[in-house]
Amino acid sequence: MIAAGQENAAQKGSPMELKNRPRRNRKNEWIRDLVAETSLRAEHLIYPVFVHAGKGQETALKSLPGQSRWSPDMLTEKIGQWKNLGLRHFALFPAIEDRLKDPLGKESLNDNGLMAETLKRLKDAHPDVVLIADVALDPYSSDGHDGVVRHGQILNDESVELLAEMAVAQARWGADWVAPSDMMDGRVAAIRGALDDKGFVDTSILAYSAKYASAFYGPFREALASAPKSGDKKTYQMDPRNSKEALREVLLDIEEGADMVMVKPGLPYLDIVAKIKAHSSVPVAAYNVSGEYAMIKFAGLAGALNEEAAMMEMLLGFRRAGADAILTYFAVDAAKLLRARS
Ligand code: PBG
Repeated sequence: MIAAGQENAAQKGSPMELKNRPRRNRKNEWIRDLVAETSLRAEHLIYPVFVHAGKGQETALKSLPGQSRWSPDMLTEKIGQWKNLGLRHFALFPAIEDRLKDPLGKESLNDNGLMAETLKRLKDAHPDVVLIADVALDPYSSDGHDGVVRHGQILNDESVELLAEMAVAQARWGADWVAPSDMMDGRVAAIRGALDDKGFVDTSILAYSAKYASAFYGPFREALASAPKSGDKKTYQMDPRNSKEALREVLLDIEEGADMVMVKPGLPYLDIVAKIKAHSSVPVAAYNVSGEYAMIKFAGLAGALNEEAAMMEMLLGFRRAGADAILTYFAVDAAKLLRARS
């Protein structure tokens, strides 16, 4: 590597008359580091992890190479390792057995269920990590929708009641944040009210505020076997053609009490991240979703691009667009790389 300050050799011939040579601010690594407008650190990352019932089990996910579903005991062990890389935030996604699913997702309230066991175990073993629990019906619902389905319709108000109960249960089991990902109207206010009622005034809400109906969730739904049994999610998740609507959703969620708002997916929606960042009074998260991870992972495996470099460039892109926090399946890989570089 050429050391800083060693590239100032005079050029041959008479120079062009250029007052501005922006390249001067890029001429070596030191100046590039000095003027860098964006930073990426492990503290910015939230790692979404999958959990399933059992003991001593890891199930590798075909659609997300490098990612697994873990039994709660194994996840507890792994989080100990990931914590040492500087990762502090984990978003938990349970894969519920089919036999436990029903139209109202009752398993989501089970004090002896998978989510309860996982949160309690993790809090017990790692009181110093931040646990984020997803609030939506789909992993528990026999219909695979985020709300209650009746006569082919996803019912808003009835769903919100269940979601508020779910959030309270998760807080009781040890969730530091609850993250409604359902896109029902009025759910943030209902969840805030229910949490406060039960004394959980310090439990934070990370609202999936601008969540689009997206093909990029494919690998995630396969990981949890949570795809909708019929229809799609377009009556509640947002239309990819819209941008102003994202702002409307975000402002409503902030008014209702969200502590952080989220844009999801991330990569095809960086314009939305930038816009929300400019207008939001609370921090903004972006979800680098399963399909975005899979794109880079599979392209890397096929030798089409340098996976590590593409990963870092993408994550920096999220930060540059305005994301304070990034949910990404690359969290461990990126944290390792950041550690090696520092
Ligand atoms: C479900 C939920 C989904 C994701 C997070 N929570 C899928 C969906 O809405 O269908 C997707 C995450 C990913 O693709 O990585 N409420």
